[in-house]
Amino acid sequence: MDRFTGRVALITGGSRGIGFAIARRLVAEGADVVITGRKQESLDAAVAQLGGHASAVAGKADDPVHRADVFAHVAAQHGRLDHLVNNAGINPAWGPVLDIDPGVAHKILAVNVIATLEWTRDAVTAGLTRSVVNLSSVSGLSASPNISFYGVSKAAIMNLTMQLAEELAPSIRVNAVAPAVVKTDFARALYEGREAEVSAGYPLGRLGDVEDVAAPVAFLLSDDAAWITGQTIVIDGGLSIRSLV
Ligand SMILES: NC(=O)c1ccc[n+]([C@@H]2O[C@H](COP(=O)([O-])OP(=O)(O)OC[C@H]3O[C@@H](n4cnc5c(N)ncnc54)[C@H](OP(=O)(O)O)[C@@H]3O)[C@@H](O)[C@H]2O)c1
Repeated sequence: MDRFTGRVALITGGSRGIGFAIARRLVAEGADVVITGRKQESLDAAVAQLGGHASAVAGKADDPVHRADVFAHVAAQHGRLDHLVNNAGINPAWGPVLDIDPGVAHKILAVNVIATLEWTRDAVTAGLTRSVVNLSSVSGLSASPNISFYGVSKAAIMNLTMQLAEELAPSIRVNAVAPAVVKTDFARALYEGREAEVSAGYPLGRLGDVEDVAAPVAFLLSDDAAWITGQTIVIDGGLSIRSLV
């Protein structure tokens, strides 16, 4: 498939995990990609793996100076921007929602929610032409023990996706994906040492691989999803359809 030939995509948090898999998928389908992340070394390694179709800018997703650097880089390097993937996300808290440090809660909202809004706004200002995909999570669909405030932020992403889709229609489509546990560094604490036990809760019998998310994200970004906007696609191996009763 070459759904992205001649197109440029910006992916926040693209040096590893789901973001890197999305970048790899888009490059395989013809795109040029710009990826971000905090660590230059990881970005350099990712760019090397993506061949001649990728470049990177290091910085924090919630830093406005970094955002401005990225859009200046996109303009200088490509002179166009077709797709944005708001993938960078954090969860520095573990435990009951009532125990969360308010400063940590603000940081989670700043990176996961406010930055998603600001990257989208600035991408539109920079001339974004086609589509946005935001990374939500199944943790935003129900109470999630220990990762509770992260779930709050991911629920906000689903609603933000609808608001942005409505405001940016008809020219730009905005959708989200809500994965369950995908095997990355980020989710390791949720399955390491007990993968078989955790997998047993999934009707499809396994945890997610990064490609399980990258393919639906590519679909939502592409013209194959031309009449879909404001939606969150759940990617969970069937987890949410299984009743515990
Ligand atoms: N894995 C899962 O089970 C799962 C499930 C549902 C949703 N998600 C969501 O999917 C997205 C990607 O998660 P992942 O599992 O692929 O994580 P990951 O493997 O930890 O990768 C995260 C990527 O984002 C970058 N990053 C992290 N914090 C950043 C920040 N503050 N500013 C800029 N870049 C940052 C990382 O690079 P640096 O560390 O160098 O910054 C890395 O490139 C997140 O939004 C996450 O909430 C994940």
